[in-house]
Amino acid sequence: MQKLLLKNIKLLINVYENAPQKLSGKQMAVLPCINDAWLACDDGLISDYGSMDDFPGITDWKGLEVIDCTGKMVMPGFVDSHTHIVYAGNREQEFVDRINGLSYEEIANRGGGILNSAKKLRETSEEFLFEQSKQRLKEIISQGTVAVEIKSGYGLNTESELKMLRVIKRLKELNWIPVKATFLGAHAVPTEFKENKKGYIDLIINQMLPAIAKEKLADYIDVFCEKGYFTAEETKQVLEAGKKYELKGKVHAEQLSHSNGIKTAVECNAISVDHLEFCTQGDIQLLKNSNTMPTILPGAAFFLNLQLPPARKIIDNGLPLAFASDYNPGSSPSGNMKLMMSMACIQYKLTPEEAINAVTLNTAYAMGLQNEAGTITPGKRANLIITKEINSYGFLPYAFGSDLIDAVIINGKMWK
Ligand code: NIG
Ligand code: FE
Repeated sequence: MQKLLLKNIKLLINVYENAPQKLSGKQMAVLPCINDAWLACDDGLISDYGSMDDFPGITDWKGLEVIDCTGKMVMPGFVDSHTHIVYAGNREQEFVDRINGLSYEEIANRGGGILNSAKKLRETSEEFLFEQSKQRLKEIISQGTVAVEIKSGYGLNTESELKMLRVIKRLKELNWIPVKATFLGAHAVPTEFKENKKGYIDLIINQMLPAIAKEKLADYIDVFCEKGYFTAEETKQVLEAGKKYELKGKVHAEQLSHSNGIKTAVECNAISVDHLEFCTQGDIQLLKNSNTMPTILPGAAFFLNLQLPPARKIIDNGLPLAFASDYNPGSSPSGNMKLMMSMACIQYKLTPEEAINAVTLNTAYAMGLQNEAGTITPGKRANLIITKEINSYGFLPYAFGSDLIDAVIINGKMWK
């Protein structure tokens, strides 16, 4: 049995004997910490913790790895509940086109955007797609992400959606970090169905879904509810079809316009609703009577220069709020969750405590991992960040460009 002991931890962050499932409203500012602490991990799980004043008397040192964390802090690793890291190639040309004045919508209307990635992905072998995606998974783990949700949605036909989901399955089977797979066939209408959206939705429901369910390739189902993509009614139709295969919903909602995606997500009891740039007071009211986690994707709003979602209003109305990266080639080519945390503070006015909760426990809830990740709690996975020597945890979002991660611990073992 693998045992690990972290000692002389300057500050052990977000410690709960029994952790809440998620944090809402004022609770988001609560961050229980222990100064000068130790943390023990056993067989890949957190087993015990305490103050150095009560350092455990160890009799059996055999097989015990000890890490001295003097001057460093230990926190739960980041949980990224919204990514598209399985993709082929990049889209720097569209980045330049936008600098030169074109909008995301204009680029999409010319066949760029998601359809550009779909074209590239269809031409890429499963093996090469797996290699590229594996590199991205490695990259985000070294940046402190210890659990990730990954979507399909660049295949847009049965064969290529299955190819993407099989790659996600292989990433899961690496057993590096927990991976949840989301089927996003309804990400865009592919060119061959341009004049026949109904035909494409039928294909999603009657062909893709049964094939995916048969191979057990997805945990969730998602829809891009947006003008020019899928309407609220179509979103509902796809989410209801997913329910028949026990896939819980997630929704890309209110990103470029108000499209009633939040309303639909709440009606379908989606686990999360993501983006929210055009979220209204009425939507906030709807979310209050739901279990759906509102999730902001600050990388996408930043990269596309969108108006900012009303983060403060959401929290001040007593709701929970999560922040994820949306790592993808078109609207957020970064999976750096520490940077997302900085944006949460700088652009959205979350305090460091709220921001830490928004990228750990609340994102864990948004992918059904709240009992495995998100806090320092006995029985949860020993998936942790050891920071470099810092004075306070506020320095993490403050020093927005600095790499302050000294080490990442995955399943009780050193990752980098
Ligand atoms: O989450 N909003 C829709 N989908 C992705 C962007 C996909 C792309 O441009 O490739 C997102 O931002
Ligand atoms: Fe997305």
